[in-house]
Amino acid sequence: MHVGVWLYHVCLPVRLQLTIREYRPSDHRVVMELFCDSVRENIYPAFFKSMSHPDHVGVALSISMAGYVLGGSSYFQALLFGTAWAGLIYFCCHEIYEGYMLRRISTDMADIQANYLEKPNNGFWVAETGDRELPRVVGMVAVMGRRETEEDGHRDNLNGGVGTSSSADGSGDSGEMTHLVVAFPWRRRKLGSQLTQRALDFCKERGLARLVLDVSSPQTGAVSLLRKAGFVQTLSHDNTHSNCWLSKLARISVMRMEKFL
Ligand SMILES: CC(C)(COP(=O)(O)OP(=O)(O)OC[C@H]1O[C@@H](n2cnc3c(N)ncnc32)[C@H](O)[C@@H]1OP(=O)(O)O)[C@@H](O)C(=O)NCCC(=O)NCCS
Repeated sequence: MHVGVWLYHVCLPVRLQLTIREYRPSDHRVVMELFCDSVRENIYPAFFKSMSHPDHVGVALSISMAGYVLGGSSYFQALLFGTAWAGLIYFCCHEIYEGYMLRRISTDMADIQANYLEKPNNGFWVAETGDRELPRVVGMVAVMGRRETEEDGHRDNLNGGVGTSSSADGSGDSGEMTHLVVAFPWRRRKLGSQLTQRALDFCKERGLARLVLDVSSPQTGAVSLLRKAGFVQTLSHDNTHSNCWLSKLARISVMRMEKFL
């Protein structure tokens, strides 16, 4: 470990050697790819989850039936109407995640150096694997620290509309964990847990009372990881920074997960 640069050497159960270190500008391309892929991968799970909800199954059947009747007993028109409904739901899911991704790209991710590394209460780390000649970034996590003295209006609302600084009981300064991502081939090897631990350690070092993050309902793997790491759900809302009708149709809710330190 060197002064000023955090290097966590992580030995995972499958003998995978990893280093968790601070973000460098040379990581930018791969970090952006990881980020975009991790947001877009939620679109299909969100779509299937939404379409299989009993309310939406009922609507799909009713719309198909209407198409069948209006088309004069036409199976083709029944299929067409049903497909149009599914297309609308897919569009909503796509817009919510794509909109979120574009917003983050144009805000905090536009300049990671300035927005995270140059601010004492913020941090951005990557997990690197491979040998010295050919290291490869396979995961990342970031924290934005919030001091209770900051004005409400100054707080970012990047995750979906509910500020992160005030807990249900209003206690203390907090860190908001964002961009927790592990590349597909390295998942289920405890790397996500190690990155979460890095974020928790950072908050402790900075004297922040808790770590919070907002997770959308289709991110079941993330919710499972967080619960295992001791996070509890303190809030649920459907304010996903998008048009509220998109969220309602897509049936996506946002869960606030918190861990007190
Ligand atoms: C969520 C994510 C970071 C997990 O990373 P990971 O390295 O696979 O997580 P870990 O190996 O540390 O998992 C720890 C525990 O979390 C749970 N978990 C993790 N992924 C899971 C999944 N897909 N389904 C169910 N449980 C899961 C398991 O209980 C797991 O323990 P186990 O493997 O002993 O059963 C990764 O799947 C990812 O990058 N997802 C896309 C981005 C995302 O959703 N980020 C969430 C923050 S907004």
